[in-house]
Amino acid sequence: MTQGTLLKQITDYANRADPYPLYAELRRTPVSRQDDGVYAVSTYWEILSLLHDPRISSDTRNRLPGMGGTLLADSEEEDTGLPPSFIRLDPPEHDRLRRLAMRPFGPPHTPRRIHDLRGELDRMVTGLIDGLRDRREVDLVDDFAYPFPVMVICRLLGVPHEDEARFHVWAEQIVAGIDPSSSEDPAQRQQAAQRARAELGRYLAGLAEEHRRTPRDDLLSAMVTEQDPRERLTPIEMITTAVLLFIAGHETTVNLITNGMLTLLRNPETLARLRKEPELAVPLVEELLRFEPPVQFLPQRTALTDIDIAGTVIPKGAPIWLVLASGNRDPRRFEDPDRFDPERVDNQHFGFGSGVHYCFGAPLARLEAQIALTQLARRLGDPGLAEDPPPYRRNPVLRGPRHLKIAFDGVVG
Ligand code: HEM
Repeated sequence: MTQGTLLKQITDYANRADPYPLYAELRRTPVSRQDDGVYAVSTYWEILSLLHDPRISSDTRNRLPGMGGTLLADSEEEDTGLPPSFIRLDPPEHDRLRRLAMRPFGPPHTPRRIHDLRGELDRMVTGLIDGLRDRREVDLVDDFAYPFPVMVICRLLGVPHEDEARFHVWAEQIVAGIDPSSSEDPAQRQQAAQRARAELGRYLAGLAEEHRRTPRDDLLSAMVTEQDPRERLTPIEMITTAVLLFIAGHETTVNLITNGMLTLLRNPETLARLRKEPELAVPLVEELLRFEPPVQFLPQRTALTDIDIAGTVIPKGAPIWLVLASGNRDPRRFEDPDRFDPERVDNQHFGFGSGVHYCFGAPLARLEAQIALTQLARRLGDPGLAEDPPPYRRNPVLRGPRHLKIAFDGVVG
């Protein structure tokens, strides 16, 4: 296999269950030009340096025609009236919007928001596991790992969970828009994603208006009732931000929990330890973010100028894929990187990215996964995988099992 086609192999569904040997091959050339014009960056130090390099843009409107790659989830503005959210913008605009969005979510203005949710998250997990009492087999995705983060993001934003059937479809279409491996026509997929984004935006705008009239303890209410005009998002900025948080809180944490349980069931001694030592959950979740990251790569960066890195010049306007999951297994950075070690200390992984776009929801995602895995370990009696490897989702970017069938001996406690 040539270096120029490795990314194609990696995104091929046939390799979804174990892409890691292909990443090892990709790392032989830290920055490699793929046959379709994409520059794949696969080694730890090169990924780190580009994630912190202002010559790299997250705004796909900076791509030059004819430079290759598939344009993903851009040109939203023309078709839907919704401009890009801050994940697709560069400083200084990115920084302004991120700071305003952070006001009701975390420090410095609301430092306790996530911490104070702990009790509620615990009760949600308890309720979902109580619901499995009559069962001896569970699909962890449909019965637990999907509903839980959706309940959480609904609670946090102030979205009624009863509307799940409506927004589930929009969320799936939006996420399909960033699937570079799909065999469907990219233009049609993009249009479907843009339409879904617009519909979700309209739905959230309607809710925001309700929350302006009757504010509650949630992010939508906080955003629409901000009194200081210099600290307020415009109505359209609020909608793009709410759409971003809603989707980001939907499609990633499910994979962390599911990849986590799969890894624990493949490593029963760690599962047994977690049952007795719940404090292991903290380093364990970090190791999961390194070992089986829910976001495998960032396929939407563009070079703003020629960039000379690791002996290759990435030309201005070229698409760049930062292969986070490969950096996480780079032996030049991590000792024995293919070993799952829940006590790994030196673990500056790329699970949440790095640099100005570092995951906004990381404290929440960590807490959700820690609580979920600890309770699952403690309460599912003698669990075992009914199928290994499980069937995976098609999307190679947000990688995780589509179903995870677990047989168990009943619910404890
Ligand atoms: C396990 C769960 C999660 C993982 C693995 C994850 C991963 C990531 C990664 C890798 C990025 C960097 C994207 C880039 O550089 O282009 C990111 C950004 C982001 N994440 Fe997460 N995320 C998770 C959960 C969440 C949750 C629960 C939320 C919302 C509450 C969230 C909100 C965001 C936002 C808004 C950004 C964009 C930040 C920016 O552009 O400044 N994420 N996430």
